[in-house]
Amino acid sequence: MRFQDKVIVVTGGCRGIGKAIVEKFASEGAIVYALDYVIPSESEFDFENKELKNRIKTIQTDVTSEESVRLTFETIIGEQSRIDVLVNNAGITRDNLLMRMTSDQWDAVINTNLKGVFLCSKYVLKAMMPQRSGTIINIGSIVGSIGNAGQSNYSASKAGVIGFTKSLAKEVGSRGIRVNCIAPGFVITAMTEQLTEEQKSDFLKNIPLKRAATPETIANVVAFFASDDADYITGQVLHVDGGLAM
Ligand SMILES: NC(=O)c1ccc[n+]([C@@H]2O[C@H](COP(=O)([O-])OP(=O)(O)OC[C@H]3O[C@@H](n4cnc5c(N)ncnc54)[C@H](O)[C@@H]3O)[C@@H](O)[C@H]2O)c1
Repeated sequence: MRFQDKVIVVTGGCRGIGKAIVEKFASEGAIVYALDYVIPSESEFDFENKELKNRIKTIQTDVTSEESVRLTFETIIGEQSRIDVLVNNAGITRDNLLMRMTSDQWDAVINTNLKGVFLCSKYVLKAMMPQRSGTIINIGSIVGSIGNAGQSNYSASKAGVIGFTKSLAKEVGSRGIRVNCIAPGFVITAMTEQLTEEQKSDFLKNIPLKRAATPETIANVVAFFASDDADYITGQVLHVDGGLAM
């Protein structure tokens, strides 16, 4: 129970990696807000444990909209008076070869994956700065470091998240706030379901550990970064990718 009664916010928290992160923190005692622009029916959060269920709250939020983000963080701070951890996890892909990529595809990815991180971090600091404590964990991607054909928009957004992480870590370190980035490789979620069988087997062939990650694998590392065990780690990018990026 490393996170007993800590207040934790996870964007894109109703599906995939975000949902696993929400469940991990709630199972260790936290009060977790899952922000998502699509809030699924309750049954999709498959709780055996009613107490766990009571620890998870959902708020419909669009991370690309400053008004939506502002209102959500005001609500959470109003209800809890503090926020201990923010996980910027919401992300999308709109893959295309650059010559065919539309401005809409470019803007959608940059607005969600990069502007969303900026907006949520800006508003969470309204709680963390006066607390003089807190930790922000950004979910990047291996392709932010190594690139990927057909994903110039996504790679640019995730590379941007790395620069953002390091800059903000320098800006808020003196206030006791840590900022780190976790860069997953190939994780089995709805996002990777969009890949063709050929793309999936190419990925697997190149992963030294020869297997994909589960969302729970990523959630465990997020929990480590949020825990006191990581209290001297800031401004770092950790690849959690079975060795793919070496
Ligand atoms: N799946 C992978 O292999 C993989 C690899 C590397 C990085 N990542 C990153 O991990 C994160 C989670 O990915 P996933 O695979 O779980 O994806 P997913 O598509 O399963 O889940 C993403 C969630 O974000 C939400 N979301 C999207 N746009 C939003 C917005 N504007 N406002 C609020 N919520 C929004 C979606 O509704 C969804 O619930 C993303 O940032 C992704 O880029 C995933």
